[in-house]
Amino acid sequence: MLAIIGGSGLTQLANLNVIRREVMRTPYGEPSGALTFGQLCGHPVVFLARHGYGHTIPPHRVNYQANLWALREAKADAIISVASVGGIRGDLGPGVLVVPDQIIDYTWGRKSTFHESSEQPVVHIDFTRPYDEVVRQRILAAAVAAGQPVVDGGVYAATQGPRLETAAEINRLERDGADVVGMTGMPEAALARELGIPYAAINVVANFAAGRGNSAAQICFGSIDVVLREAMGRVREVLEHICEG
Ligand code: HPA
Repeated sequence: MLAIIGGSGLTQLANLNVIRREVMRTPYGEPSGALTFGQLCGHPVVFLARHGYGHTIPPHRVNYQANLWALREAKADAIISVASVGGIRGDLGPGVLVVPDQIIDYTWGRKSTFHESSEQPVVHIDFTRPYDEVVRQRILAAAVAAGQPVVDGGVYAATQGPRLETAAEINRLERDGADVVGMTGMPEAALARELGIPYAAINVVANFAAGRGNSAAQICFGSIDVVLREAMGRVREVLEHICEG
């Protein structure tokens, strides 16, 4: 069962043949919404809207623990995260799809582990390569099959939000080696690793990051919606080919 977590611009999968919806409860509280079970090109898929189906949950309030736990309960054996980002690197402008291979985590105050109990031995997961390489390669191969260009690799900076960054913060992220910036990649990826579920991401560049490109003066929210609507159509095509492949 492939799980897809949809972010901004992807609160539902139009091409998903929906079979049922299930409200899940977890020891960590409620996920962002009901899990939607269905078929994509005949392949079983479970979909979850990260920000809720009405897009009401901001990045720092997403219950990442409950979301990942619910997907495990649903027997997800791989997770593809779709998340919009700001482009820091000059060639990563609005509309570009990126399959990142690294993460730098700048978030704070989020529940970022399942191993919080003081009664159990401390657990450290390996996170050298935060994204599962098999799932990453599945996405890349599907993009080729779908004829949709994607950028292979990139460093994802996870910021706290919900505000966007200052231009100086983006300069700092670039000095740190980040290529794209988003607000939801962590702790999602780490929690998936803790649960042993292979996880990778498709990042959709919604805008140039603050101070870059046409965001030099300020970020234009009107154009973000237009960019995401078009780009998510391409993401859906890639997802269909993942299921077919
Ligand atoms: N910064 C952080 N997160 C984002 C951005 C951005 O510019 N665009 C889309 N998600």
